Amino acid sequence: MAKYTLPDLPYAYDALQSYISKEIMTLHHNNNHQASMAAVCLWTGHINHSLFWKNLAPTNSPTTKLSPGPLKDAIDRDFGSVQAMIKEVNGATAALQGSVWGWLVSHAVIIGIDIWEHAYYLDYKNVKVNYLHAIWHVMNFEEAEPRYKAAL
Ligand SMILES: [Fe+2]
Repeated sequence: MAKYTLPDLPYAYDALQSYISKEIMTLHHNNNHQASMAAVCLWTGHINHSLFWKNLAPTNSPTTKLSPGPLKDAIDRDFGSVQAMIKEVNGATAALQGSVWGWLVSHAVIIGIDIWEHAYYLDYKNVKVNYLHAIWHVMNFEEAEPRYKAAL
């Protein structure tokens, strides 16, 4: 079985506060990611988490604002606006049950959201919809854009 290394977070554990607590980030990154790498057949869990960590950015980071460009154009075209896209993704994601992931997909995964309970329970208890509202404040759109461009 291949050995997967735990990628460092590209920011500090407390960088996403007040949307995602340091406690969740520490537990989620260290325990869950390592546990999923130790388990057989959780390769997708490893890929998903690797994308998810990169996909987030520190609170108030300029990369959390979607700048004009191909990704914004596509979102405006397909959803009407970024706010409408967030509403639609959150609505679809909130309806999912169990341990799953929410994705913004356009030929390839552009943005992934971990909606396993371990990703939000300490901060949001069972109110997944509040977590889904919060997560977009620390979404790294700048990091997502190259994936969109590559998928064109
Ligand atoms: Fe997770």
